Amino acid sequence: MGKYDEIFQRSIKDPNGFWGEAAEAVHWYKKWDRVLDDSRAPFYQWFAGGELNTCYNALDRHVKGGREDQVALIYDSPVTSTIQKFTYAELLDTVARFAGALKGLGVGKGDTVIIYMPMIPQAVTAMLACARLGAIHSVVFGGFAPHELAIRIDDAKPKVIISASCGIEVKRVIEYKPMLNKAIELASHKPRKCVILQRPQAQADLVAGRDHDWDELMAKAQPADCVPVKSTDPLYILYTSGTTGIPKGIVRDNGGHAVALRWSLPNIYNTKRGEVYWAASDVGWVVGHSYIVYAPLFTGCTTILYEGKPVGTPDPGAFWRVISQHGVKTLFTAPTAFRAIKREDPSGEYIKKYDLSNFGYLFLAGERLDPDTYHWAHDRLNKPVIDHWWQTETGWPITANCMGIEQFPVKPGSSTKPVPGFDVQILDTNGAVLGPKQEGLVAVKLPLPPGTLPTLWQADERFLQSYIKVLPGYYFTADGGYRDEEGYTFIMGRVDDVINVAGHRLSTGEMEEIIATHPDVAECAVIGAADSLKGQLPVGLVVLKAGSKKQPKEIRKELAQLIRDEIGPLACYKETAVVARLPKTRSGKILRGTMRKIADGEEYKIPSTIDDPAILGEIEEAMKGIGYAKKKET
Ligand code: COA
Ligand code: AMP
Repeated sequence: MGKYDEIFQRSIKDPNGFWGEAAEAVHWYKKWDRVLDDSRAPFYQWFAGGELNTCYNALDRHVKGGREDQVALIYDSPVTSTIQKFTYAELLDTVARFAGALKGLGVGKGDTVIIYMPMIPQAVTAMLACARLGAIHSVVFGGFAPHELAIRIDDAKPKVIISASCGIEVKRVIEYKPMLNKAIELASHKPRKCVILQRPQAQADLVAGRDHDWDELMAKAQPADCVPVKSTDPLYILYTSGTTGIPKGIVRDNGGHAVALRWSLPNIYNTKRGEVYWAASDVGWVVGHSYIVYAPLFTGCTTILYEGKPVGTPDPGAFWRVISQHGVKTLFTAPTAFRAIKREDPSGEYIKKYDLSNFGYLFLAGERLDPDTYHWAHDRLNKPVIDHWWQTETGWPITANCMGIEQFPVKPGSSTKPVPGFDVQILDTNGAVLGPKQEGLVAVKLPLPPGTLPTLWQADERFLQSYIKVLPGYYFTADGGYRDEEGYTFIMGRVDDVINVAGHRLSTGEMEEIIATHPDVAECAVIGAADSLKGQLPVGLVVLKAGSKKQPKEIRKELAQLIRDEIGPLACYKETAVVARLPKTRSGKILRGTMRKIADGEEYKIPSTIDDPAILGEIEEAMKGIGYAKKKET
């Protein structure tokens, strides 16, 4: 048996022993009573009875252990021409003082705090300061519009919101404060206090009595100590798109999270204390939580916070510049970033300008890694390119080629094998296990390992409905895929109404709900059509109300603006086809899957349940009218 098989088998057969040993790498104020508490299954609890502090594990223990002068965080911001380095001692000092400031505003253990910030060091400070106090943070990605922020405010009910005057998108200054004000106006829950970081690029007007200036608070703040919390207490809530307009509040606990992430860095990413790790993502996403902030700091690495893009800041050599300048060993990003670089620098000329000798691994996730992009990256970089699959729900990878355990030959299109702790199975819709090469639903046998979602924020029943009741005994991932004879897993895409646009997870169901509010729209469907840069792009099909005088061009523009205003620019909703009717089954279900195939120019079967097959020809024509439904060359 190889090393991977041995470790994997032990993790499944003896989870108590396996994770109990892994937990020794974490600092605990009080050790756990039970490693895995299954007394309330399927609500599993890891390290029940244990007490720890996540911020202590990220910062204090390294300072106490003699790493105070090592750089903990490098803020590299080509959009503001800034590079700033913080040692562990400096970051601890800042975080402890900001925790003191939050405490002064009444934030304590169990309180919720929303963080709506761009990629600046204060975003990391705010997260860690909440963790220090035992408060629960909920970071909202800066590209979301006020309406989305308002939904999250109403669900998380934060005592305090932390934000900044602006973000910077390449050369554009995006003012955050007017969006925050609008969101608070829209929300029913009103936070008592806001803390605003004034950036030099924009000055925000502060609301007297409610808004506080970050710098002024910090100037008078006293450092606050770490507050021990239960292993099972929530560390954060991160909202992610579900199939409707109500996002799911993924809960992360403190103990299981610390153990799993601490284990993952050496074992999956082969990255150790003192090395430089860079997740080119955003703190608003799960990748940013786990691999910009928590895992590298738990491990004693140097982490990079990059405020820029893969291209245009200033050129497609941006990633290679950061890697060589800061000695990055491991880069983690989304395939779309590589497609953007490849498009501007197809022959990889910029790669040759930089010394990448310290660079060890490129990890990609967030969407399917298409074999073309895999080959381009691998051939140009000549380093291992590792596709790994995970979800906001799991918080860390479910399948990967674990570089710290045993390196398997890569099969392009596959994210390799299950990570220890994840008993991945391919099932049919009745829950029967399928054999090799049979495509089905990808599920993980319960219990999930530490670090994965224990439930949804104040929505236990929704947690059960969405993930547990679909396939009894398993966690339902909502991804489809298959395994080959050697156990390599191929993830083929979502089986629900969730799409991935530039690695950003979005709900087509939510877009449909918004489009349906347009006064001229009688009926609509939104599908995710293939896009060579962003992986997928949303495309709408609408039936107008009888008597509507709207021209297709006008509708297209109005719906694009509506989605931008309600969800945000990151939705990238631009195209709408106006059709006379939508294809449906005889029971009235809209055939979105068939329309997606038509949009992508794929072969499709006429579903036997279709009400009127002639509609499909009309859909194809309408799609062609907006540049889709081009037959693939074979
Ligand atoms: N705040 C405000 N607006 C934002 C934003 C933020 N944090 N992030 C994105 N936007 C805006 C962009 O400015 C753009 O606006 P526009 O329509 O007015 O031009 C829109 O949202 C779409 O953004 P994006 O999809 O990022 O497109 P892009 O053309 O700016 O960049 C890529 C394309 C591929 C370079 C970029 O998507 C990328 O780097 N992706 C990596 C993905 C990633 O990190 N995923 C996280 C999971 S690992
Ligand atoms: P998110 O929760 O935003 O991380 O998105 C999770 C979804 O992204 C998954 O359910 C998959 O559909 C998709 N995804 C993430 N990583 C991969 C991957 N390596 N291969 C294929 N799909 C992926």
